[in-house]
Amino acid sequence: MLVPADVSGLERIGGGRQADVYALDERRVLRRYRGDLSAGHEATTMAYLAAHGYPVPAVHHSAGPDLVMERLTGRTMAQEWLAGALDLDTGARLLAGLHQDLHAVPPTGAAAPGEAILHLDLHPDNVLMTGRGAVVIDWSNTAAGPPDYDLAVSALILAEVATGRLDPVRAPARELLRGFLREVGPVPVALLDRAVGVRSGDGNLDEAERANLPTAAALVLALTP
Ligand SMILES: Nc1ncnc2c1ncn2[C@@H]1O[C@H](COP(=O)(O)OP(=O)(O)OP(=O)(O)O)[C@@H](O)[C@H]1O
Ligand SMILES: [Mg+2]
Repeated sequence: MLVPADVSGLERIGGGRQADVYALDERRVLRRYRGDLSAGHEATTMAYLAAHGYPVPAVHHSAGPDLVMERLTGRTMAQEWLAGALDLDTGARLLAGLHQDLHAVPPTGAAAPGEAILHLDLHPDNVLMTGRGAVVIDWSNTAAGPPDYDLAVSALILAEVATGRLDPVRAPARELLRGFLREVGPVPVALLDRAVGVRSGDGNLDEAERANLPTAAALVLALTP
């Protein structure tokens, strides 16, 4: 498949701190890393998950920093809340279910006993609400590991938003976290600590976000039923 090296003529439809997403046509998008990261591992994982019935965009092609995949239509789960189209309880159940379904997929040979395929960034901005239901995007962090670690990372990310700088989303994020913890149960403290450690080394977080991580972790424990 021919992927254009020059993307200046393409419509940029999304992207965040590490990648840009361009529309190739009505059915396909190109996600391109800005640095020298490779999309190969996530492409392989996504194709494997799709074959096991887990909701991910279909992968068409990947090479170096490029991933060409199915173009999804729909708002993110976060946008659905902000638009009042999804209530927090339903969202919490959906988010918990997406974790549970992922962890029920038989892991590949790379996993040790008890491990599963983890997403490790499964928050409401990485779930698109489409005509075929909720579909999980942004598999850049995927790895094998204990399922509870995925829950710890997601809970911590929600808590970061709930204690973060963006005032309008703090209260909904807190309620979502409460509902998520109600669904998934207590997150082991050791794995929460591990999530804090890994996220403090994440170059995508700024100084203030890093300094806030212990406060966020404390909120996860405080809201655990
Ligand atoms: N398959 C897809 N179909 C349609 N839009 C997509 C698709 N994948 C990504 N997008 C759009 O691009 C945005 C960013 O995608 P993604 O989360 O993969 O990138 P990112 O650079 O990791 O972003 P962030 O750093 O914010 O997590 C999504 O919110 C969505 O709007
Ligand atoms: Mg993302």
